[in-house]
Amino acid sequence: MLLGIETSCDETAAAVVLNGRKVLSSKLFSQIQVHQEFGGVVPEVAARKHVEILNSIVEEALSEAGVKPSDLSGIVCTAGPGLIGTLLVGLAAAKAYAWAWERPFIAVDHLLSHVCANYIDTDLEPPFVALLVSGGHTQLLHFENHRTSKILGQTLDDAAGEAFDKVGRLLGLEYPGGPVIDRLAQVGNAKAYAFPEGVVDGYDFSFSGLKTAVLRAVEKSMAPLPVADLAASFQAAVVRVLVKKTLKAAQELDVPRIVLAGGVAANRQLREELSRQSSVPVYIPQLRYCTDNAAMVAAAGFYFNDASPYEVNAYSRQKHPKTLARKSKAAPTQR
Ligand code: KG4
Ligand code: ZN
Repeated sequence: MLLGIETSCDETAAAVVLNGRKVLSSKLFSQIQVHQEFGGVVPEVAARKHVEILNSIVEEALSEAGVKPSDLSGIVCTAGPGLIGTLLVGLAAAKAYAWAWERPFIAVDHLLSHVCANYIDTDLEPPFVALLVSGGHTQLLHFENHRTSKILGQTLDDAAGEAFDKVGRLLGLEYPGGPVIDRLAQVGNAKAYAFPEGVVDGYDFSFSGLKTAVLRAVEKSMAPLPVADLAASFQAAVVRVLVKKTLKAAQELDVPRIVLAGGVAANRQLREELSRQSSVPVYIPQLRYCTDNAAMVAAAGFYFNDASPYEVNAYSRQKHPKTLARKSKAAPTQR
């Protein structure tokens, strides 16, 4: 079993997971309230908060799982992409635990971890097409096996979650905008505004035109702002393009299943529409494993790396996962 540690942004999390599938404990402290007054995550504040509470979260995760450090087969930690200052807190802790407990240190990629959230409590096996939609990234990926994935397309500007958060701000909603828009959209009229989908060829995405269209609509609106209708129309446009391109990729690559991952995978309409329109099974993580958490980190540790050198450093932009591994193994074994 593996201990996972996650500090890439504003959630401090630790979890113990068996064989990449069974969560023995998953502890999380969300700093959202701390950052809400600033309207977004303040990196220095986030890093300090991680320093304050990470050790106690790790202790809680171990005690809830009922395991001792000597039971662990490794300490897994997110190395990036994320905020450098916050990532460094988790990495320093993970390396220190690994050293002190004489266990392997395993660095994993945050985006691949989001996808691995789908292994938790399921029978998912590759090949599959994954739609990864988070606050920082939007990608369509093709997983040929557990370890090898190819980026089919990605956003040319804003990430889907970022678009939700920016539109949330335009509508005067609290941070993060995604969950609030999700709630408001349920009572709004999605046909009130005909927002553009963002026309981009192939499997790439663009959300900046849509965001500007919402801004124009807000500027033209009379008070009070029809917030629910704007939220519903915006969300419908995002969901439409995400579902369309994901289904097209799954069909063209002829994969037997689709996987949804990342914070925006918590969105009700996206979950429903993708499942409803797909002719192949769609895997979607439980809500608590959509947004940042450490269970997905431990799951990724099982599938991706054996051990990483202590030289592995935090990174803010996407890297190839192979750069994190000391050596590679053909297939994961029981841990
Ligand atoms: O994956 P995540 O927790 O962090 C990153 O790795 O970025 O994703 C956070 C993003 C935020 O942009 C947030 O607004 C969005 O996920 N999000 C949602 C929902 N819940 C979280 N977006 C739409 N609907 C939701 N229910
Ligand atoms: Zn994330």
